[in-house]
Amino acid sequence: MADRGLEVVGVDPAGASLAVARGKPGAERVRWIHGTAESLPVLSVELAVMTANVAQVFLTDEDFVSTLRAIRRALAPHGLLVFEVRDPSRRAWLGWNREETFSSTSIDGVGDVEAWCDLLDVQGELVSFRWTHHFTGRGESATSDSTLRFRSRESVAACVGAAGFALQKVRGAPDRPGREMVFIVSAGTGRVP
Ligand SMILES: C[S@@+](CC[C@H](N)C(=O)[O-])C[C@H]1O[C@@H](n2cnc3c(N)ncnc32)[C@H](O)[C@@H]1O
Repeated sequence: MADRGLEVVGVDPAGASLAVARGKPGAERVRWIHGTAESLPVLSVELAVMTANVAQVFLTDEDFVSTLRAIRRALAPHGLLVFEVRDPSRRAWLGWNREETFSSTSIDGVGDVEAWCDLLDVQGELVSFRWTHHFTGRGESATSDSTLRFRSRESVAACVGAAGFALQKVRGAPDRPGREMVFIVSAGTGRVP
């Protein structure tokens, strides 16, 4: 987007993720902010996107709605927010096991790195899993545990409405056909609740 001449702001609370992003070609044309959506400065953007299913990290309605409200505050009066979540009916977590997620990558200066995901727990809409990265040369492993919420379309729509957005459309993701629900919502002109 920055390459196409658009003014782009990127926000993420993970410093290591920002460091990777800052190393990419054209990154100097993006304004990077280390923080959450709630720490955004005053902006008036036409489009906000939450990519790679980040909307699923908000486990409670309270957290999800306050993040959505913060995004709405950063939008111009008729701005749009677009984000995707995995369709819970596809039960993606059934494939989150070592056999189906295993990969091995050779990295200069590091050696071979094996990576895989293990499902830890499923409690209603909450799915917990562990990613393991094994550095074969050093014989060391690093693990990262996460929980995601698989909300229904109605539950996402209710949170979007509670944040003052108007639901425009729910569609599929062309790159992941049948697996995702892409929400397109507009800020409207009302006051941010
Ligand atoms: C699956 S990654 C997607 C990263 C990036 N959006 C992409 O598409 O490559 C989810 C990201 O959301 C970030 N995140 C989690 N909570 C957040 C919040 N409240 N505000 C902004 N970003 C958040 C995480 O740090 C993580 O980098």
